[in-house]
Amino acid sequence: MGQYFQEIISNLKTYLEYLKGMGITSLPSSGIKFEGLPSPQILSLEEIRKELGDCKRCKLHRTRRTIVFGEGNPKTNLMFIGEGPGYDEDVQGRPFVGKAGQLLTRIIQSINLQREEVYIANIIKCRPPQNRNPEPDEIQSCHPFLMKQIMAIQPKIICALGTFSAQTLLKTDTKISALRGKFYDLEGIKVIPTYHPAFLLRNPERKKEVWEDMKKIAEWLINNKIKEME
Ligand code: URA
Repeated sequence: MGQYFQEIISNLKTYLEYLKGMGITSLPSSGIKFEGLPSPQILSLEEIRKELGDCKRCKLHRTRRTIVFGEGNPKTNLMFIGEGPGYDEDVQGRPFVGKAGQLLTRIIQSINLQREEVYIANIIKCRPPQNRNPEPDEIQSCHPFLMKQIMAIQPKIICALGTFSAQTLLKTDTKISALRGKFYDLEGIKVIPTYHPAFLLRNPERKKEVWEDMKKIAEWLINNKIKEME
């Protein structure tokens, strides 16, 4: 029974986190009617960056050099979401600018798009010390801001790069090898996970699978007559 209630509480917590991410910070005190909830407030990327401020919401602020907010076309149909900044990103304040970033740029170009035509962000905006994996509290602190960025951009497709991105966006602990190459739904947005470029640098024989995943993205965009990254 205890486990049953724990599960309900955990699901409720996840739902409230999601609402918070959508900009809903209060609920009616009684007679909750879901259709009566305020519609999510859509902020511009500039407003979201301003709200983030000199963020100290998690412990990563103590060791980071720069907040890496994200960059690219704010009206794109295609967004890439990685894990978190590494050394080069922390120094430059831009996502995916190191070796993995150079590979990501080539991956984007493989479907005839330029880096500037898409939007690139990360699950967390501050570099973890020694590039360790992001911790759950860090992901949770950053998540509302990422959700607001997604709401502001309203891409048609999100390509989730690697385990942390795919598992966080899809709220699952399924392995990336099982998740990759399929389309999932996130509030009407298609999410397609693929391997992280840093993983490809260590395992170049897996590039073929990423190429297949990218072809699926390109085909979807063509089939849905989305030719331009407006
Ligand atoms: N790896 C990521 O996941 N994100 C970056 O911005 C750089 C490397």
